[in-house]
Amino acid sequence: MKGLILSGGKGTRLYPLTYTRAKQLIPVANKPILFRVIESIRNAGIREIGIVIGSTGEEIRGAVGNGEQFGDVKITYIPQESPDGLAHAVKISQDFLQDDDFVMFLGDNVIQGGINQLVEEFTQHAWTSQIVLKEVLDPRAYGVAKLREDGSVEYLVEKPKEPPSKLALVGIYMFDHHIFEAVHAIKPSKRGELEITDAIQWLAENGYTIYPHIHQGWWVDTGKPTDMLEANSLVMEEILSEMAEAERVSPSAVINHNSMIDHRVIVSEGALITDSIIRGPATIGAHARIENSYVGPYTSIDKNVTIRNCEVERSIILEESTLEDLPTRLQDSLIGRKATVKRGTEKPRALKMNLGDYSNIQII
Ligand code: G1P
Repeated sequence: MKGLILSGGKGTRLYPLTYTRAKQLIPVANKPILFRVIESIRNAGIREIGIVIGSTGEEIRGAVGNGEQFGDVKITYIPQESPDGLAHAVKISQDFLQDDDFVMFLGDNVIQGGINQLVEEFTQHAWTSQIVLKEVLDPRAYGVAKLREDGSVEYLVEKPKEPPSKLALVGIYMFDHHIFEAVHAIKPSKRGELEITDAIQWLAENGYTIYPHIHQGWWVDTGKPTDMLEANSLVMEEILSEMAEAERVSPSAVINHNSMIDHRVIVSEGALITDSIIRGPATIGAHARIENSYVGPYTSIDKNVTIRNCEVERSIILEESTLEDLPTRLQDSLIGRKATVKRGTEKPRALKMNLGDYSNIQII
């Protein structure tokens, strides 16, 4: 079995962060989502992984490399000239996939519990495709499945205005080679893309077996900043539940006696924490400096970040940024790389900002 990760897309809903960084490389719990996807596929025993890349391809190649850093994984890059849809991505990956079964994983999806069980189920049955469904409150932004009484797939529809059920298609799919017939048969949708939902619908109409797995755990499709914060919280909970307490604080981290660190906090190598309170779940990256500050639950502080005289909670602060002397708590925030947020002392006393396009600031 092979893996196919889709990592094109511009990530416009995450501007300005995604002006300078591929959205799949934004970290949750201090690790890029794309790396988590690669690890989930590897953990399911799959070693050959193709990554479909678009305009951010160079950055993705630079970060992922040939796969060595993930252990015994071999990565093949498949450039997609224009973002013509998920089924188009499958079409252009045929040379790589050949006749093998494969799991397709959207590089911005995060799912609880990994995919080991899904892959095992698929390899043990003669299904043409396995899809993953999750009940959501409002499925209009997703592909939606209508199941029959006996649990089999009646039909699938992409982003319906009036959803026939609450079952959204999670961005994880398993196929055998029949999918190539389907992606060649379908026509572009209203948004001008070859939809994978339409390709699976084609398989259903042509008598192939589609097995719908209903996922019970959490799932986040990280399109918007609020999704990133939610994924960050959920992933952190999951990691901490699996990590022995003794492994959480690196032996090279320095925490002074005047600091209080909860047991659900990960402190990476070389981090320096002085006179601060850290409430978990939280992750402190390598060589970060936290001084006289409060870091609250569900916060990820990336490597080389400095936080001095501040309170921060439920936020993601990316590498090499600085927070200093803030008069109020920073919360529910996503701060990009090498950003500075600090209280100014010079006159005139005023808000002074130097923001990128599409930045979003809320003051109180
Ligand atoms: C895509 C699929 C959709 C699926 C979603 C999951 O949507 O077209 O069926 O539910 O991924 O993340 P898109 O991200 O292209 O809007």
